[in-house]
Amino acid sequence: MRLKFIFSAFLIGSAVALLSSCSAGGDNPGYEYAPNMYHSFAYEPLTQEEDKPNTINANGMNMREPVAHTIARGQLDFAKYSFTVSNASYEAAASLKNPVVSSATVIAEGNTLFNINCSPCHGDKGLGDGTLVADGKFPPPPSYDSDRIKTTPDGKLFYSIRYGKNLMGAYGTTLNPEQIWKVIHYIRTVSGPYKGAATASNASN
Ligand code: HEC
Repeated sequence: MRLKFIFSAFLIGSAVALLSSCSAGGDNPGYEYAPNMYHSFAYEPLTQEEDKPNTINANGMNMREPVAHTIARGQLDFAKYSFTVSNASYEAAASLKNPVVSSATVIAEGNTLFNINCSPCHGDKGLGDGTLVADGKFPPPPSYDSDRIKTTPDGKLFYSIRYGKNLMGAYGTTLNPEQIWKVIHYIRTVSGPYKGAATASNASN
C-alpha cells in the first residue's frame, strides 16, 4: 500500500514537472529528447560548425575540394572551348564551326540574348549605334554589316564574345557556349549571306 502511494506520488510529480517544462516561458526551449537525432556526431558535408573544425580535411573544412580538372555538370563545353587569351588564340579560333543548327527558334533566342546583353552598344540591328554610343558614352563598335565582320569567321566572333576584344567585354561568364553560338546565328542575320533571315525557318549556317 505504502509502495503504491510512493509510486503514484512519483507519477504525479513527474507529470507536473513535464507540464511545467512545456509551459516554460521566455526563450527556454524545454527538454530536447534524443539530441543525437538533431546534432549529428558525423561531419556534415554541407555544413560547417565553427567550433568543431574538421580534423581530417584540409583547412578544417567539412567540404572537400573537387578533384583537379573536375568539370561541373552541364559545363563540358567550357573545357572544350578553353583558350588562353592571346592574339594567337583569336587566330586559332577561326577554325571553330558553329555546332548549333540554325532555325527560326534559334535565331529568335539569339535575338533575345542579343537585345539583353549587346544592343546597348551594338544597336538593335547590330549597326554599332546602340544607346550608349548615341549618348556619346562609348566609342562605336563595328557594324555587323561591315565588310570586316562579314568576312570574320564565326569562330573568331565566338572568341571575341567569350573572351572579349579590346574595349569589348568578355561574355564567357554570362552566356554559355550554346548561347554564344545562337547569338552568332542572329548576328549573321544582320550581316552576311543570311541577312534578313531572322524569320526564315531554315536559315542554315
Ligand atoms: C559596352 C559596349 C559593348 C557591349 C555591351 C558589347 N559589345 Fe561587342 N564590341 C564592342 C566594341 C567597342 C567592339 C570593337 C572591339 C575592337 O575590335 O576594338 C566590339 C566588337 C564586337 C565583335 C567583333 C569582334 C571581332 O572579332 O572583331 C563582336 C562579334 C561583338 N562585339 C559581339 C558582341 C556581342 C554578341 C555582345 C553581347 C553578348 C556584345 N558584343 C556586347 C562593344 C560592346
